[in-house]
Amino acid sequence: MTLLTVWADDAPGEPELRTEEPEEIAAVLKEHGVRYEQWPLQDLPDESTNEEVLAAYQDRIDAVSKQEGYVMVDVVQMRPNDDPAWPEQVRTARAKFLDEHTHDDDEDRFFASGSGVFYLHVGGKVHAVFCEDGDLLSVPGGTTHWFDMGTNPEYKSVRFFHDDDGWVGNFTGSAISRSFPTYDELAAGRQL
Ligand SMILES: [Fe+2]
Repeated sequence: MTLLTVWADDAPGEPELRTEEPEEIAAVLKEHGVRYEQWPLQDLPDESTNEEVLAAYQDRIDAVSKQEGYVMVDVVQMRPNDDPAWPEQVRTARAKFLDEHTHDDDEDRFFASGSGVFYLHVGGKVHAVFCEDGDLLSVPGGTTHWFDMGTNPEYKSVRFFHDDDGWVGNFTGSAISRSFPTYDELAAGRQL
C-alpha cells in the first residue's frame, strides 16, 4: 500500500501528515501537479523479461503515452541476487538520484512490482511517496525531488520519456536528502 509522509522542509522529525489513503494521497499530490494513479495488478512471474512487463500493462502504457505525449518507454528491474557485482550495482544505481535534483522532462514511473520512494520538495515541504506495486507517479519537469530505492532494492518499473535524452539530473547541490528518513527507515517503520 502506498504511503505518503509530509514534513516541513526544515523539520524532518515529526511528520505533518502520514497517510495510506489513495484518494488523500492523490489529492495532496495533485496540488503540486503530480499525477498519482493505481493500476490493477497483472500476473507476472518473479523472473519476467522487460517485454513481458510491458506486454502485461500494454493498454494502460499506451493510454498514458498518448495522453501525455510520451514517445518511449523502458523497463528497469532490480532484484536481489547472489552475483558478487550486485552490491556495487546497487550502490551505483541508488546513488544516481539520491541527491536533490530536477529534470527538464517529466519523470513518470509505474511500479509493476516492488517499491521505491520519491521525495518531492515543493511548497516548503518534503513529500515522501513510498510507491508500491500498481502505483504510477509523475513528477513534473522542474520539480525538485530525489529517489531512494533502498539498500536492497527490488522492483520492476516502467519509465516514460518524451525524447531519447532520458532523465538528465540537474543537481541543486542541496544536502536536504540526507536529513530525511531513507527508504530503509521508512520501510522499517511500516513493519512496526
Ligand atoms: Fe529524478
